[in-house]
Amino acid sequence: MIDLKEIKEIVQETKKEALEEQDILIYTLHKILDKIENNYIPDEVAKIVSEELKIPLSKVYEVLTFYTMFSTKPRGKYIIRVCTSLPCHVVNGREIIQAIKEELKIDFGQTTNDGLFTLEESSCLGLCGVSPVIMINQDYFGDLTPEKVKEILRKIKGGEKI
Ligand code: FES
Repeated sequence: MIDLKEIKEIVQETKKEALEEQDILIYTLHKILDKIENNYIPDEVAKIVSEELKIPLSKVYEVLTFYTMFSTKPRGKYIIRVCTSLPCHVVNGREIIQAIKEELKIDFGQTTNDGLFTLEESSCLGLCGVSPVIMINQDYFGDLTPEKVKEILRKIKGGEKI
């Protein structure tokens, strides 16, 4: 259940920052995303952001659909972004992808039935020196092997801190 009053309060707070339109919009959406369980921005929230920031709703959706960190559809609690760019690909990136798909029984763009994980493709995550690399929410994991990645996922499933 989304607390729309809280969403309005967040926007009121972010409005105090002296930021350009695009920056305030992204900053606000990030702050809101932290408060919404399924890692997405629902329509009613997008509308509040548009009204409170006086930014056209079409512009809000433009940002929501352009940046992969945002989504307008519910996603898992943990977003796994797998780098599929060449440097990661050539150091067994494909095996990492396979291991994740096997462990979670989902494909790219899908969410596990328990609502815990969503799997997404990403271009270079900027850590090619430790490829293959994935990102889970805000955390990066490099020098991965299929075993290591499965262990990370099992720890998260078991409620362990990673
Ligand atoms: S290519 Fe994968 S992190 Fe750069």
